[in-house]
Amino acid sequence: MAKAAKTKSKSSPSIPQAPRIAIAIMAAGKGTRLKSKHPKVLHEIGGKPILAHVIATAQKVVPAQDIFVIIGHEAERVRKAVAGTGVNFVLQAEQRGTGHALMVAREALSDTGYDQVIVLSGDAPLITAETIKKLSDFHIAQKATMTLLSADLDNPYGYGRVIRKGGRAEVQAIVEEKATNARQKKIREINSGFYAFSAPALYEHIDRLSTSNAHGEYYLTDMASVFHRAHKKVAAIKTADAAEVLGSNTRAEMMMLDAQLRLAKCRELLDSGVTIFYPHTCVIDSEVEVGADTVIEPFVQLLGKTKIGMDCRIRSYSVIGNSVIGDRVTVKPGTIMEASRVGNGAVLGPYTHMRPGSEVGEGAHLGNFVETKKIKLGKGSKANHLSYLGDAEIGEGVNVGAGTITCNYDGVNKHKTVIEDGVFVGSDSTLVAPVTIGRGAYIAAASCITEDVPADALALGRARQSVKEGWARAKRETLKEKHRST
Ligand code: UD1
Ligand code: CA
Repeated sequence: MAKAAKTKSKSSPSIPQAPRIAIAIMAAGKGTRLKSKHPKVLHEIGGKPILAHVIATAQKVVPAQDIFVIIGHEAERVRKAVAGTGVNFVLQAEQRGTGHALMVAREALSDTGYDQVIVLSGDAPLITAETIKKLSDFHIAQKATMTLLSADLDNPYGYGRVIRKGGRAEVQAIVEEKATNARQKKIREINSGFYAFSAPALYEHIDRLSTSNAHGEYYLTDMASVFHRAHKKVAAIKTADAAEVLGSNTRAEMMMLDAQLRLAKCRELLDSGVTIFYPHTCVIDSEVEVGADTVIEPFVQLLGKTKIGMDCRIRSYSVIGNSVIGDRVTVKPGTIMEASRVGNGAVLGPYTHMRPGSEVGEGAHLGNFVETKKIKLGKGSKANHLSYLGDAEIGEGVNVGAGTITCNYDGVNKHKTVIEDGVFVGSDSTLVAPVTIGRGAYIAAASCITEDVPADALALGRARQSVKEGWARAKRETLKEKHRST
């Protein structure tokens, strides 16, 4: 790379300045075709809002300060949902079309000295950074005023069609579906809704757009014919992969994109050494990480920022969200985990429910129908059956017997249970917090523990057993006698 730079500076002493590029993302529309009370760009696919996908891709091309999201319908909700990315927002209070969206962004995009504006659709989330860069580079190489990304679709219905004069390279116009004549309907080359513009030329000519069309809107697509008439070059570059430009105007389209994104995610994980059986039955969000040789069985959901180590087995019907799992962990069927952590070699499930803030140490076990919330379970400790453990700090090598309950709530406040290393909690015990069980202590089965237990002690908190010899036999005799006499 250093070598190339050197050669370049030798041959051309005055290196041309790289163009200043802005990205505008149109996201102000309502999405009428979805029949939803939520704005279109906030509908989720692949586990996050459609607009968040587009912004993340744009950020691979230019920094956030050069990205301008045009918002309008439910503007505040949309702004809030993606504000964390650091992008700029432009308010299009009244949505009068895609051309109008760019008119509203005039101040931000032309007065600030950008040379090129790349326009993306907030509702087409599969576009890649590579394709955007190709579009931008092609625009520069062609010295075009407007370059659109086009695609050949088998079924072009609904999209704007690209009109080229006598099959020539230059584009003459884009005709929206509703305005197409019979001949134009047959054109398979569609406008993807992604463009690169020369920023000064766009704003010099954008006022020539009119609303004399089927929707009474300012169409950005009409800039093609505006520039063509002004003898400015309008170029088009075709995508290699038409699937990248698909929009999400209807729920059906949206679910197609979701399935496509999730399959792509599975493919990425498969390529990195993860086994996924029946990948089309699994729901894996885009930011999930999984280590090599981990096996994911059918019907597993891995959501949010979940991170799973190597050599794990995640069995069917487990739903794991925003959690971190170490290496060699077995998650048996039907386990639910949210915002929790599990150390190496641990075993969970079947049917364990880990609620937020549960931390399980190395080699620990949580078994059948055990519910946890905000706990620490130390190395090698086990709670294998039918328990509720909440607001508890449990040390290493502890055995929590079947049916143990930490009574953490007094109706108003939550209290903490501390169980120190090596404690044995007998089955069916209730530990009424706040309470501490000292190191190495024994809790007799079925105890109700309300006071602290010192280390190495035995605590019994239950009625003493009494035995009445022969009582059952005598009772049976009396009952039989009664039955005979009736
Ligand atoms: C648009 C193109 C069409 C192209 C298709 C590709 C126009 C007129 N047509 O049609 O040629 O084939 O995309 O997917 O541009 N938006 C605003 N403000 C508005 C109106 C829309 O920000 O006033 C936003 C929408 O939120 C959406 C994007 O612009 O994210 C595209 O608008 P949409 O109504 O979906 O256009 P299409 O009918 O898909
Ligand atoms: Ca659209």
